[in-house]
Amino acid sequence: MEIGSAAGGAYDFLTRSNLMSKEIEYTGLDISEKGINYCKENFKNANWIKQDLTIKKIDKKYDYIFERIAVHHMKDPLKIFENMRDMTNKSLSTSFVSCMNGDTISNLNLARYRHDKGEYVYFNIINIFEVLEILLSKFNFIQVWYGGPHEKLFNDSTAHQYVSPEINPHNRRIGRTTLTATIIENFDEKKIYILNKNSSVKSLVKKILFHFNEKYRDDLSFLENKIPKFLDRSKDQVTYNSPYAHK
Ligand SMILES: C[S@@+](CC[C@H](N)C(=O)[O-])C[C@H]1O[C@@H](n2cnc3c(N)ncnc32)[C@H](O)[C@@H]1O
Repeated sequence: MEIGSAAGGAYDFLTRSNLMSKEIEYTGLDISEKGINYCKENFKNANWIKQDLTIKKIDKKYDYIFERIAVHHMKDPLKIFENMRDMTNKSLSTSFVSCMNGDTISNLNLARYRHDKGEYVYFNIINIFEVLEILLSKFNFIQVWYGGPHEKLFNDSTAHQYVSPEINPHNRRIGRTTLTATIIENFDEKKIYILNKNSSVKSLVKKILFHFNEKYRDDLSFLENKIPKFLDRSKDQVTYNSPYAHK
């Protein structure tokens, strides 16, 4: 199950690259009628569902559920992640604009994306630890890829990617994160692994650029310090609030 399947780019890539076995039953879900109609027309071997996930939940279980920067545009992303967790049998994966300090922001006044036609959508900034909390209640093997600061954020209220001046991207440690969460049978521990984006980047130029990006390295070591403490903590010590948090 792919959430936010748009024009079927992921399905097309997976099939063309022979990365998906023919037995797999693929379902794409999107709010966009245009996207779903295109997929129905062009990719007839998969199932395509037009659905607004903020109104109607996923109501069937799937072995693997994945999404990339789609939940990031939906109201109350943490609720969507809870629904994804509940409906996943084996493994899920998500990519979003993340922060490491302060509560998750899902508020059009504080952060929004403007489409070319002028329509505003949510531009959520999702706290990695709040998502990990949701995932750890079910999965025991979690991988975190931290991609570092990614998009440019603008304080000008008419900008395509607007973030209120109240939000300090540096203090919040805003970046891009991919999480994968899996259930491994007969494995009693809960483990979170941090994968260095650097290690998955093939090009030498990119590796060098990552290496010299001080903000990226600083965020990564912050994450590497915080995750073991987060895993060891007792429940009542959990806090996401920082001086930069917005309620
Ligand atoms: C930024 S695009 C990402 C598309 C694709 N996953 C990718 O990585 O290129 C976000 C997608 O999420 C879909 N989407 C946004 N809000 C949604 C909602 N409430 N329910 C279902 N899909 C939604 C949009 O229509 C769009 O196709």
